[in-house]
Amino acid sequence: MATATVHPNIALVKYWGKRDRDLNLPSTGSLSMTLSHFATKTSVVFGVDHDEVIINGEEAMGRPAARVLKHLDLIQPGRAPAKVVSTNNFPTAAGLASSSSGFAALTLAALKALNIDHTPAQASILARQGSGSAARSIWGGFVEWRRGVKEDGTDSHGLHVAPPDHWDLNMVIAVVDKGQKSVGSTEGMLRTMATSPMYSAWVSSWQRDLDQARQGILDQDLTMVGRAMEASTLKMFATMFTSTPPIRYWRPASVAIQDEVAKLRQDGINCWWTMDAGPNVKVLCEPEDAPAVADALEHHVEDVHTLAVGGHPVVED
Ligand code: PMV
Repeated sequence: MATATVHPNIALVKYWGKRDRDLNLPSTGSLSMTLSHFATKTSVVFGVDHDEVIINGEEAMGRPAARVLKHLDLIQPGRAPAKVVSTNNFPTAAGLASSSSGFAALTLAALKALNIDHTPAQASILARQGSGSAARSIWGGFVEWRRGVKEDGTDSHGLHVAPPDHWDLNMVIAVVDKGQKSVGSTEGMLRTMATSPMYSAWVSSWQRDLDQARQGILDQDLTMVGRAMEASTLKMFATMFTSTPPIRYWRPASVAIQDEVAKLRQDGINCWWTMDAGPNVKVLCEPEDAPAVADALEHHVEDVHTLAVGGHPVVED
């Protein structure tokens, strides 16, 4: 039996689209910040009577359970029956990156329970195959996920860009809707790839955003990171809006918060927004500005969380 506690991450430069669906290889590189406080805790034990998956206190059935068990098959083909117990201390599948911490925690707990020696990059490659963004939750701090060029995906894994204590940043999250998203990220990506005329522009223009965000992190230059983050986010959503049928996770409150962030910037508060596959808005700022940002977001939604940069996963026997 082993247990892993892992923080989710939010992409500052986005992953949207797959160059290989089976191996979950991305069409673009991406870069994230690991979040403090929010966490998935997952325990895995092998050698029980039958497979069992408990998520947030309830027995999982159907696709969520099948995804978990398939992931264990990938880690150890022909494995013994296993019991998996996983709990999130934040909303699941609601655009708050629960799949990133979920599959990273499952991977690290299973590797430990099976006593399989591995490097972080090897764990990241396995986690990637459960959910792309999980490739980045194998580390705390700031993490890049290389697009890679190899067909077998061995060069497409996370890389640690900077440790958790490199830069004291905050992400203020406005929860516009806690509900599960209507279109899952894989379905959304496949539809975008198949139908959006903007998709080719997206896959040919991400590198500059990533280079700037990485440099901005190393230099602790929030304006540089923020510009690259908003550019990457808007380009990603442009591909979704122009898919058939269109994918539109934004709600009126999401747009109002984007306006609020622009207004805060005009008032001299350096803050920048991003969104994922859901209506929630995440705002990046310095800790000294976080109370003012949180106050402004509370005019639009009830639920606002101020999170810092999260640490590395913790894995125990
Ligand atoms: O890892 P997935 O399949 O949940 O996809 C994540 C997609 C985005 O959150 C929209 C972007 C990202 O890079 O995390």
